[in-house]
This record gives sequence, structure tokens and C-alpha cells, in this order.
Amino acid sequence: MDALEAIMTTRAIRRFTGEPVSDDDLWTCLRAAQQAPSGGNVQPTRYLVVTDQDVRSKLGELYLSAFGRYAAAMPGRPTDAVSRRTGRSALHLARTLASVPVIVFFLMPRTPSLVEGIDIGPVAASVYPAVQNFCLAARALGLGTTLTTVIRIHQAETLELLGVPDGWEIAAMVPLGHPAEKFSVAVRRDVADLTSFNRWS
Ligand SMILES: Cc1cc2nc3c(=O)[nH]c(=O)nc-3n(C[C@H](O)[C@H](O)[C@H](O)COP(=O)(O)O)c2cc1C
Repeated sequence: MDALEAIMTTRAIRRFTGEPVSDDDLWTCLRAAQQAPSGGNVQPTRYLVVTDQDVRSKLGELYLSAFGRYAAAMPGRPTDAVSRRTGRSALHLARTLASVPVIVFFLMPRTPSLVEGIDIGPVAASVYPAVQNFCLAARALGLGTTLTTVIRIHQAETLELLGVPDGWEIAAMVPLGHPAEKFSVAVRRDVADLTSFNRWS
């Protein structure tokens, strides 16, 4: 698949068939993630892949609870059709996470962004490129993903469940599976309205 086509059609997929993901495809996505840039090439990301049904079930409970708290904290109900569709789709994922074949955690070290008073940038800036590479590689293989972060509401319990040592936090949790919905080009704000040249305008 052409790189631009993969980029333009990679969007949140939250409905999956029960078909398993092959090890080859999983490793292709992980290798693509690891190929991403990082500040100083420090490669801070750790990948924790969950396939075990028991762990997925426990994650499903934590995620549904986290999503409930997130939804309750959001002011008002969405009024436009796109937001309502996103809400329904996100709720579906929250209710079915345990049945998604693969759930990948992208972990980052708890590192200060200031070193000796100098701003070296947030460590997340060296992790999210890996997440997006993973999602793009999945798309190229016909697999669906969604970058999610709501599980951070139950971060401590999740890290304990996964046996993650102190000093690490969750950058993203990405479900991976064969899509039960179609890839398409998402409607976005016009980039021309958000871009200025040479000087802010
Ligand atoms: C930082 C970040 C956090 C997100 N967290 C969640 C999440 O916790 N749960 C979820 O279902 N989707 C989550 N999303 C997915 C967004 O809802 C999705 O990217 C957005 O609605 C655009 O979707 P589209 O590409 O299908 O148009 C997150 C996306 C980003 C970039």
C-alpha cells in the first residue's frame, strides 16, 4: 500500500471480528513502531502485548470503568453527528475490549522534561511517533487500531495487573484486530485554516 493512502485512511477502528492476528503481522507492526524517531535516539518506548484471555478480561473491566468515569466527566452530550458516532463507537470498544485479540501498551519512563534547567521536551514526544507508526503499519496490513488513553484513569491498577515496575507510565493502549468496519478518509478541519506561513496569523 502507498504510504499516503495508509496515512489518509488510518482512523479509529473500534469494532473487530474475532479473527486472530498472526504473529507475523504483530511483529511487523512492532518493528514499524520501533523504527520511529526519538529524541537523541534514546528509544524510550517499551511494548507490552496482551493476548491472554484472562488478562484481557481484567483489562476490559478496568477500561469499561475508566471509560464510564471519563464519559461522566465530559460536560453535556455531543450534539453533532460525528461526535455522537464517536461516542457510540468508543462505548462499543469499552464494552467489548476483552474480545479484541491483541491489546498493546506503549509504556514510557517517568522522565522529567527539564534536565539541569534545560527544556529537553516531553518524553511522550519520543513515544507517540512509535504509536502512530504501529497504527499505520497495521492499516497497511488491513488491521484496525485506535490510539486510546482513557485507561490512564485506572493507571495504577493497570500497571499492577501487567506487572510493570515503578518508573513507567502508560502512553497509549492500542487494541489491534481485523476490522469489522470499513477504512475511510475521516472528515477533518481544513488544514489551510490552521496553517500560517512565516508569521502567526
Ligand atoms: C491522545 C488520544 C487519546 C485517545 N483516547 C481514546 C480513548 O481513550 N478511547 C477511544 O475510544 N478513543 C480514543 N482516541 C481516539 C479518538 O477518539 C480518535 O482518534 C478521534 O475521534 C478521530 O477518529 P477518526 O480518525 O476515526 O476520525 C484517542 C485519540 C488520541 C489521539
